[in-house]
Amino acid sequence: MNITVFGLGYVGLTNAAYLAQFHLVWGFDKDIAKIQELKNQVDYLNEPGVFPLIKKHRKNLFYVEDPSQTLRQSDVALIAVPTPEGAGGQIDLSAIKEAFAHILETGKKGILVIIRSTVLPGTYELLFEEAKQKNREDIQLIIMPEFLSQGEALTNITSPNRVVLGLKQVGLEKTVQNIFKYSSTVPLLTTDPSSACLTKYASNSFLASKVSFINEMSQIAEAVGANIQDVVKGMGYDPRIGKQFIQPGIGFGGSCFPKDLKALQSLAVKNQIKGNMIDATIAINQEQITRFMNRVMSRFNHQIKQKKIAVLGLSYKGSTTDVRNSPAFKVIDTLADQQAIIFAYDKKATFEFFNQRGEKPCLAYAIEIEDALKDADVAIILNDAKEIKNLKPNDFVRLMKTPIVFDGRNLYDVKNMNGVEYHSIGRPTLK
Ligand SMILES: NC(=O)c1ccc[n+]([C@@H]2O[C@H](COP(=O)([O-])OP(=O)(O)OC[C@H]3O[C@@H](n4cnc5c(N)ncnc54)[C@H](O)[C@@H]3O)[C@@H](O)[C@H]2O)c1
Repeated sequence: MNITVFGLGYVGLTNAAYLAQFHLVWGFDKDIAKIQELKNQVDYLNEPGVFPLIKKHRKNLFYVEDPSQTLRQSDVALIAVPTPEGAGGQIDLSAIKEAFAHILETGKKGILVIIRSTVLPGTYELLFEEAKQKNREDIQLIIMPEFLSQGEALTNITSPNRVVLGLKQVGLEKTVQNIFKYSSTVPLLTTDPSSACLTKYASNSFLASKVSFINEMSQIAEAVGANIQDVVKGMGYDPRIGKQFIQPGIGFGGSCFPKDLKALQSLAVKNQIKGNMIDATIAINQEQITRFMNRVMSRFNHQIKQKKIAVLGLSYKGSTTDVRNSPAFKVIDTLADQQAIIFAYDKKATFEFFNQRGEKPCLAYAIEIEDALKDADVAIILNDAKEIKNLKPNDFVRLMKTPIVFDGRNLYDVKNMNGVEYHSIGRPTLK
């Protein structure tokens, strides 16, 4: 088959690489710099396995600056463009509409359009109405939410734990199976478009609510002198609860949870539903980072001017270069407001963070983790990157002026932190 992919980010490029194993794939991105980078084989995604796969199937994968030509021959168009937060928390559908308009204009007769972007219920009907108005009722449309997790994008696309198809036209399940060639063990759920859209939002909101729930428990654990890590262990053995997404920390970030929660919240409000769970999930998440920074500031009696502070971890999680909604922004801004001297470190994400935050007089970017820690008064840990996880208590003792560590990800065992003043989330402080 011939497939055109709109949007070559985490979702689009990983899907394109996967599909190029079986089909001829044309990738289009509005960002021409990305097209150039792909032509020059630059790995801007940093997702394990994706670029090796792209290289392996380069004879099946092409990049275009204008999709009109390829759409004329394509059997399938896959849309993986952003759906960011728009006015009032609603999603901004402009990139989807732009891609869809291209397809309506030049797409082959009967082309199948697969929406992999996260979209609210109602989007299918809205797009189909646009197709009708352009006399393109020949178009076939599926909402197929993507559930990948950054850092594991390719594995999640190759072996998804489920595939959800939202459609109204008959016979399309078989076509999807012919396109993606999933193993027979992959559960394939066919439903109406609104249910498919809501499945994605409900999944993300549920995971985010697990994070906020355990973070609230961590606040209680701190107050009563309990150890949240033992609580998590005791909870996680219960299969009804499960071990995942109950790790306490400074809260979630990234490009999906925050905007998806807001979109769902606005959908609830629009339908006169209170959305209490969603509100609480968002509120606890904001509170968690504020509380964490208050603890840092209190430790120094709110006097951190000219203190050297190592901030380790700039992306929202360790396995990605993505800094969208990373807690590092709030942490660094708070410290900078107090005129601390900040040495920020992230092996993978420094470039992306710098691109967004730029230069600040009190902010330096360390190339090596040791440079960030050297002579620091305090270290603040914000993600679980391998290089940070691998630090030993003696590294803090040896390198820092005073080995005071505030760990927002509970990376180390409290009882192993001899010689370090160790503050973490929901666990006793080691002084
Ligand atoms: N990143 C994730 O973990 C993840 C997981 C599941 C679902 N999603 C959803 O998938 C969608 C894409 O997310 P992403 O993380 O891949 O985004 P991304 O920002 O990494 O990539 C999107 C790409 O689309 C391009 N683009 C924007 N407008 C375009 C247009 N009109 N035509 C062609 N290209 C265009 C951008 O330049 C960018 O390269 C979003 O709706 C997101 O919520 C993301």
